[in-house]
Amino acid sequence: MISWGNYWQENPKLFTTVMEKSTEYVANKLTHNQLVTTNSQVLDFGCGPGYLANALKGRIASYFGVDISAQYIATAKDKCRDHPNFQFKAFPLEESINSLSTLELEGKKFDTIIILSVVQYFEKQQDVLNLLENCKRLLKSGGKIILADVISDEKGLIKDILAILAHSIKNRYFFHFLKFMVVAKQSKYNQLRKSKKLLTISQTEMRSFAKQLQLELDILPTITMQRSRISYCLVS
Ligand SMILES: C[S@@+](CC[C@H](N)C(=O)[O-])C[C@H]1O[C@@H](n2cnc3c(N)ncnc32)[C@H](O)[C@@H]1O
Repeated sequence: MISWGNYWQENPKLFTTVMEKSTEYVANKLTHNQLVTTNSQVLDFGCGPGYLANALKGRIASYFGVDISAQYIATAKDKCRDHPNFQFKAFPLEESINSLSTLELEGKKFDTIIILSVVQYFEKQQDVLNLLENCKRLLKSGGKIILADVISDEKGLIKDILAILAHSIKNRYFFHFLKFMVVAKQSKYNQLRKSKKLLTISQTEMRSFAKQLQLELDILPTITMQRSRISYCLVS
């Protein structure tokens, strides 16, 4: 059976428009709530094909995106080719968390690390803890990790679909959303979702992670379209 990592490495087209719109929504919330500013030096772990990077152009000082899909990284680089302060790197699937240490060795530091809609594809909670630990090492003093779109239980799917439906009507991509819903039903994503499930983390478990890592934990006001999911801010 393939893993979530293998699934993403195959550069799935299923999400194109819906993911782009959802990510633009997050970029607007991040800037509106001043979670990123024109001074921000951002690391985006699991950056996908560069939707967040594209939406943050001109709104932040610098951006470094990493992902396990070489194809996504190539697409993201292409989108940002006119922005030399926007850089990208592909990490190996089995070593994506440990590979953050290569950035540490290069002396890179960030004031904002964004992990958006990624950890639900991890095998186990310990991987999330390891990721946060490695991210903490890359933070400048007073920097923050924004861990967004965390699934705390599997019950909110309908609520999330309705939120995206409403947004798609208001923002005129309803037909893309409809096509997405039809295709998604038969997709490998849906098969994997049933067989492997998505990783869930409760608020209590997140509090325990933050305590172990000696990070302050705040729950952010809704910054993603998925209403059932939770976004956290962890401050060093
Ligand atoms: C739902 S997409 C979100 C992409 C992007 N963060 C956004 O919101 O536009 C999930 C992303 O996580 C990446 N991903 C999944 N597992 C990963 C891992 N172990 N290490 C790094 N990236 C991973 C996938 O390749 C994919 O780009």
